[in-house]
Amino acid sequence: MSSLFYTLLVPVLSYFLWNLIGIIKNIRKARAIGIPVVWSPVSPENPIWIICSKKVAPYIRRLPFGDWTDYSTIDWTWNDRENDFKVLRKYGKVFAHVMPGKLVIRTADPAMVHRVLSDRRAFVKSLADVTDMLDIYGPSVVSRDGNEWQRHRRITTRSFGESVHRIAWPEAVRQTEQMVELWSQDERGFRSTARDFPTLTLNVLMRAAYGVQYDFHDSSEKVPPKGHNRTYRDCLREVMDMRNIVLLNIVPSFIFSFPWAPRRLRSLQTSSRELEKYLIESVVACRETLKSSPDKSMNFMESLVQENQATTSKSGGLSDRELYGNLFVWTLGGHETTANTLLFALFLLAAFPMVQEWLFEELDGIELDYESFPRMKRSLAVMLETLRMFPTISPGSKATGDCPVPMQTMEGDTLIIPPHTSITPNLPALQVLPEVWGPDSLTWRPTRWLDTDDGQLRTPVEGSFEPWGDGSRVCPGKKFAQVEFVAVISCIFSRYKIEAVPEGEESAEDARERVWKAVNKTESGLTLKVENSERVAFKILERRAASGEANPMAGDHV
Ligand code: HEM
Repeated sequence: MSSLFYTLLVPVLSYFLWNLIGIIKNIRKARAIGIPVVWSPVSPENPIWIICSKKVAPYIRRLPFGDWTDYSTIDWTWNDRENDFKVLRKYGKVFAHVMPGKLVIRTADPAMVHRVLSDRRAFVKSLADVTDMLDIYGPSVVSRDGNEWQRHRRITTRSFGESVHRIAWPEAVRQTEQMVELWSQDERGFRSTARDFPTLTLNVLMRAAYGVQYDFHDSSEKVPPKGHNRTYRDCLREVMDMRNIVLLNIVPSFIFSFPWAPRRLRSLQTSSRELEKYLIESVVACRETLKSSPDKSMNFMESLVQENQATTSKSGGLSDRELYGNLFVWTLGGHETTANTLLFALFLLAAFPMVQEWLFEELDGIELDYESFPRMKRSLAVMLETLRMFPTISPGSKATGDCPVPMQTMEGDTLIIPPHTSITPNLPALQVLPEVWGPDSLTWRPTRWLDTDDGQLRTPVEGSFEPWGDGSRVCPGKKFAQVEFVAVISCIFSRYKIEAVPEGEESAEDARERVWKAVNKTESGLTLKVENSERVAFKILERRAASGEANPMAGDHV
């Protein structure tokens, strides 16, 4: 018995000792940089910790020395903002975070963030980057680095250009008209925004990139097609959850099928397998189309499939697994982020009706077509301001390579970053820095984006606004997302206005205050969402009926 005890104790103690030595070494390394240093026994990116931290961290926080949970959960940057920037005020914009086997610089300094995101020679993919977990169906542009990333990026972006945007605009308008029709039928107000926007953006992506058209009304169909036991959307929704992605990565597949496995695991496995089946079927159908009409102009999916048929990964094309991996991440990235941006914008516009009025001025007298997109500066400003305050996803962490890298901060200090050190941008703090954005940096004010003289869009201070990342790894769907967002917003607000439905005895002003509070209660997983968004009901009204109404929230907000 005692020998078994020692046999188990020795590796456990060695593991802890090894981690302790690593932490001490990293603390010394971090102190040499000359910035505040904090440490924690677990890293925010630890898969087990990602799954349990939401439940466990609040208890640990109450213990003596439990403060480390303030900067050591996957969503700590958002919690810190809700906590009035407790961590930022204590340690400053730039601090070093030491964990077992890892040293990460957490920064909300614009100069550093810009350099890290745009200097691909000095910074490589980091250990603190969790994008590898998205390789459930195969490697993709999101998880690769170096030459391999270049190959994925070149192939996948080649066919994602102007022609895709041109298809996206009318489809976004068509989908929005159908969605609005459903919204207007609900006399008690609609609460389905968290479901509706992902439906809409997925439909637009399907049409523009994959050549398949759905109607908005039919998209909530619960009946799976023949040969499937779940709908595509239900599978995608379940697999896309951050904790489920972690589970798919760490739980061996045979455990999912055990009869005593929790129902949640079995359901997740069904969704994941079904999604793979859908992917394979769509590729098979696409190959057939390419065979029967080889000369047609190709959409995004067809061009990826052709790339897969013509060559192998070694000769510069995409292997089967890489094809599935890319189709999965492009579908994920191509709809969820824009959907959530639209969700935040709708809440914010309902909270600030004066901004709606400001939009009406631009939309009245403008044709709702793709040609008008460059002139719809106010609609775009609404998107930029929404993403400034609520960046729906963060750029990946980067790291120094074998050499130390000197970096300048915004204040002009030089920090020497040691080799193999990760640097992670803190967007929720960076994009509301008062020294960059002014004393009203926490106010949602889209007018800040437009020059008062010529009405042109302002360019923010370098590195202070990075919702799409920067440099060569900047989001390849940036323009697509902008076109789609502007099409949806302009389609809604050219005819309608949105109001929050008051609850009980609540005044209209109280209802707007409640919406503002609700939008500031976020939930951060793979992407950022409004927590419990379904608790807020909105109504959609024809604009003409609304003209001349007094607007209590107006003040000098705009
Ligand atoms: C509001 C909408 C969107 C936001 C805020 C957003 C944001 C981002 C961010 C922050 C990155 C990471 C950049 C980095 O690591 O430095 C990224 C990468 C990416 N995005 Fe988006 N995105 C949006 C829409 C889209 C759309 C519509 C698509 C496709 C149709 C898309 C496809 C991708 C892909 C494939 C990558 C990986 C690029 C690479 O690693 O080279 N995104 N996006």
